[in-house]
Amino acid sequence: MKAIVLSDVTRVDDIDLKEVDIPKVVPGWVLIKVKAFGMNHSEVILRNEEIKYNYIKKPVIPGIECVGEIVDASDSSFENGQRVIAMMGGMGRSYNGSYAEYALLPVHHVFGINSELNWEDLAAIPETYFTAWGSLFECLNLKSEDTLLVRGATCALGYAAIQIAKALGCRVIATTHRERYLSKLENVDERIIDDGKLTGKISGITKALDLVGPKNILDTLTAVDKGAIVCQTGILGGVYSLNGFDPIKDIPNGVYLTGFYSNYPTQDIVDEMFEFINKHQLRPCYGSAYKFKDIREAMMMQESGKAGGKIVVVVE
Ligand SMILES: NC(=O)c1ccc[n+]([C@@H]2O[C@H](COP(=O)([O-])OP(=O)(O)OC[C@H]3O[C@@H](n4cnc5c(N)ncnc54)[C@H](OP(=O)(O)O)[C@@H]3O)[C@@H](O)[C@H]2O)c1
Repeated sequence: MKAIVLSDVTRVDDIDLKEVDIPKVVPGWVLIKVKAFGMNHSEVILRNEEIKYNYIKKPVIPGIECVGEIVDASDSSFENGQRVIAMMGGMGRSYNGSYAEYALLPVHHVFGINSELNWEDLAAIPETYFTAWGSLFECLNLKSEDTLLVRGATCALGYAAIQIAKALGCRVIATTHRERYLSKLENVDERIIDDGKLTGKISGITKALDLVGPKNILDTLTAVDKGAIVCQTGILGGVYSLNGFDPIKDIPNGVYLTGFYSNYPTQDIVDEMFEFINKHQLRPCYGSAYKFKDIREAMMMQESGKAGGKIVVVVE
């Protein structure tokens, strides 16, 4: 099969598809014919830096998510030919991932789906929509009567969260750090340029999804209404933790702070998510689509940051 295989730090110019053996099934794992996959920033970090560390399997096929068909169900309850999605759980890091024609994956990170979407559209869903879904419902307990702030909305996760929240019937206020991206925030009720200070400029926020992260989180906490919940899911601001964080003084009285980590998908949550996507006839949003043979161009687009949303790669 064709695959991207990394053994060391690799510049995108040196990326090439290699011919490797199709993996053999072992108990507890299933073989998937990868039909398409979405790309993630963590794969850029892996290729440019993280591959050096011992905890990364080497050589490794990167890719933390995919959509495809079961070709060998092994000892699982899946059926051959069944449509599935897979994500996270060490995929593309501690065992081979999705940048390949076939992927051998542990059964607990593979999920059956009920969807008529084509492979390209489906590929935009697993990691991005699961993260948006978990942030909005598991963490923020989002309801149709909420006013949701999406801070740092011009990214794959932001667009997905807006789409879901609008389908639910929420009022949505979205921010971008670039004036020229305001037009990308379609279908929201209010669009705001984020100069780092939202406190005092917005009101009525009952739920906030913060994708900028620790760089601005204290301001998000004071920008929302009393009783609001703030979920920190993204780290777009490039600051990863908050030294000197003082919960007593930094979280206003009656405001709630939570965070979402996408490492724990379950079949029940995947089922709920697809039920919602089907019911509201959502067509997943993504920025660019490539064929697998053009994976280097897809990676170049990813590094340029100009994709305008999720990049999906069609393998079939
Ligand atoms: N908690 C979890 O489990 C989880 C899971 C998935 C993703 N995430 C995080 O969620 C965030 C979004 O992920 P994604 O996959 O949706 O990202 P993405 O589509 O790859 O978007 C990244 C782009 O967002 C843009 N951006 C928008 N607002 C920004 C801001 N305020 N500051 C800096 N850049 C900004 C930047 O482009 P411009 O410079 O062109 O604006 C950047 O290149 C990331 O921080 C990611 O690590 C978390």
